[in-house]
Amino acid sequence: MINSLYPMTTETATSPTATSEQPRGLSADPVISVRDLETHFFTDEGVVRAVDGVNFDVHPGTTMGIVGESGCGKSITAKSILQIVEAPGRIVNGEIQYRRDAGSGETVNLLNYGANSESMRSIRGGEISMIFQEPMTSFSSLHTFGNQIDEALRLHTNLSKNERFELGVDWLARVGIPNPTQRMHEYPFRFSGGQLQRAMIAMAMCTNPKVLIADEPTTALDVTTQAQILDLLQRMQEENDMAIVFITHDLGVIAEIADEVTVMYLGKVVESGPVHNFFDDPMHPYSRALLTSIPSMFTLSRERLPSISGSIPHPQNRPSGCAFHPRCQSYIEGTCNIREPELVSVNEDQDVSCFLYEDQ
Ligand SMILES: Nc1ncnc2c1ncn2[C@@H]1O[C@H](COP(=O)(O)OP(=O)(O)OP(=O)(O)O)[C@@H](O)[C@H]1O
Ligand SMILES: [Mg+2]
Repeated sequence: MINSLYPMTTETATSPTATSEQPRGLSADPVISVRDLETHFFTDEGVVRAVDGVNFDVHPGTTMGIVGESGCGKSITAKSILQIVEAPGRIVNGEIQYRRDAGSGETVNLLNYGANSESMRSIRGGEISMIFQEPMTSFSSLHTFGNQIDEALRLHTNLSKNERFELGVDWLARVGIPNPTQRMHEYPFRFSGGQLQRAMIAMAMCTNPKVLIADEPTTALDVTTQAQILDLLQRMQEENDMAIVFITHDLGVIAEIADEVTVMYLGKVVESGPVHNFFDDPMHPYSRALLTSIPSMFTLSRERLPSISGSIPHPQNRPSGCAFHPRCQSYIEGTCNIREPELVSVNEDQDVSCFLYEDQ
């Protein structure tokens, strides 16, 4: 097995594409619906509720941005979708409904397939692929990059060996790696951090996925390359109606690429809705705090940037009631520290979990 994250399978997946008569974008049926997802780590020190009842939809041809501070459960949510959570982590509840065929109303709950089942292996790395936050650990050091991309293409396409090689070269060139033919014969340790990240993007995109999960895909890249990669993702999305789940700390990137935003705090969704609502009318105090902590173009370079007051609690010391209450500017004594707010629709598109909107 070359790439340990995407194990071998003999089943070949095809990606049906949407026809022009079908609704597109946010009005189309979701390709992925995550419902009540809970993924916990059973450690010697206790249970870490890394993902604690997460819900969101991702529509074909659109980008769902997932934001939140470090440790809030973004990567574990992404890994749960592909069932690649490492021990001692385990998905303990929920559904991941996946619409394999855009034309049919049928969905399958991916969690009904075992993590190592033939069906899951045929989907993972093919129809649903992922750009990992740590590219270094996602490649095998024992095989050349060419062998690893060949393996992905062999499992998920019907291309010949020569065609697979040519496509690998083509993808390395598309992500901006010089001398792509030569690089196909090199081992990943010969790649710089930024080149590895780009090679990982090539690996994730080469199978023409219906859903791309991109976990901080551009953090190791300079701004020019980052802009090129975002451009490439957007072009792929337009051409193939690809849905993207885009995880990032960078709200500037979210403004550029996302159609919808899901804000997470301590394993839960605290707000979700269209990207313009998030920037123009953020409702949850945590969303507002995130937005005021980003640099404005008018901030003088020597001025200190505001940051969210307090620090994120350790997941094993989850505050009672609303987990954000110790850091919240709008904290209501006797309510927020006692009861846990539910995620509810406050208008047609926006969901928020906060007692400020209980009456709405
Ligand atoms: N192997 C593990 N064992 C125990 N806890 C873990 C393990 N992996 C992740 N966690 C915990 O799960 C929680 C969510 O982690 P996750 O990696 O999803 O955060 P994140 O939102 O992606 O953060 P970042 O922005 O830093 O990437 C954290 O509290 C983390 O400590
Ligand atoms: Mg992460």
